[in-house]
Amino acid sequence: MKSVIQDKKQKTLYHSSLSDKDFRRLRKFIYNECGINLPDYKKILIESRLQKRLRILKISSLSQYCNYLFSALGMKNELSNMIDAITTNKTDFFREPDQFVYLTQTVLPELISDKGIGIRKTMSLWSAGCSSGEEPYTLAMVLSDYSERIYHNSLDFRILATDVSLSVLKKAKTGIYEHEHIDPIPYHLRKKYLLKGKKTMEDLVRVTPKIRELVTFRRLNFLDGNFGLSEPLDIVFCRNVIIYFDRKTQEQVLRRICSHLRPGGYLFLGHSETLNQLTLPLVPAIPTVYRKPL
Ligand SMILES: C[S@@+](CC[C@H](N)C(=O)[O-])C[C@H]1O[C@@H](n2cnc3c(N)ncnc32)[C@H](O)[C@@H]1O
Repeated sequence: MKSVIQDKKQKTLYHSSLSDKDFRRLRKFIYNECGINLPDYKKILIESRLQKRLRILKISSLSQYCNYLFSALGMKNELSNMIDAITTNKTDFFREPDQFVYLTQTVLPELISDKGIGIRKTMSLWSAGCSSGEEPYTLAMVLSDYSERIYHNSLDFRILATDVSLSVLKKAKTGIYEHEHIDPIPYHLRKKYLLKGKKTMEDLVRVTPKIRELVTFRRLNFLDGNFGLSEPLDIVFCRNVIIYFDRKTQEQVLRRICSHLRPGGYLFLGHSETLNQLTLPLVPAIPTVYRKPL
């Protein structure tokens, strides 16, 4: 099914719709594959996100697209592109800034002074669902600045950053962002940790090598059996991710994340996310921040 729409330049574009049957099939598959819950009202959103794939593959309808996706060849070549298209990757530097204040004023001093984490052993942080890297790079800047101010740069920490989408991870690894994107970063941190682009790159900035080296990016799907994490984590940021999951998946994913959290470690969620009605080994610290009991 196709309808004709006009874009801003008045070019004629074809917009293909999903039949109810294909939508149900796709929805079930996406739920099983990465836990994302797609209620009926998201059908139009999914249709519009997949149009780009039709243009790239030169396929004229979503029905043909679904047939291709679910074929052996499609599962091999198209699956990760479909996941890239479906996931919502909105993010920002210093998103929910109060949490970074709590991190430096309460969490870091406590972990360092009570247990020597970051001094006698490496502090491990995880940005789980890191999108294009703004969250882990914010953590790297905040901790580097804290280490410089309070510990003469001797704080030892590392940041793991993971996402299911390969396209956002590719962007994250470059550490390159548009200038307009860096507004939320405090001026003194911009000066220390960002490099300005030159000539044709003037509208771009790049995170300094020192900050980039503190972050390791890799693909991780929360629904995969094994997260492949060898060391327990001290701090996990899993923000604005579980909001796309249903209750059952939220509980499963958070339970597994908790199993990788060190007793006394902290979990940061997004501002619209809550653990109400979930049974998990966590106690609230402040709203949206939780702690695994010692
Ligand atoms: C809205 S972004 C949040 C980014 C960042 N945490 C923040 O708060 O700004 C949600 C991210 O979760 C990722 N995601 C969704 N389902 C996932 C899954 N099953 N496993 C791992 N990451 C997933 C998406 O690809 C997306 O990049």
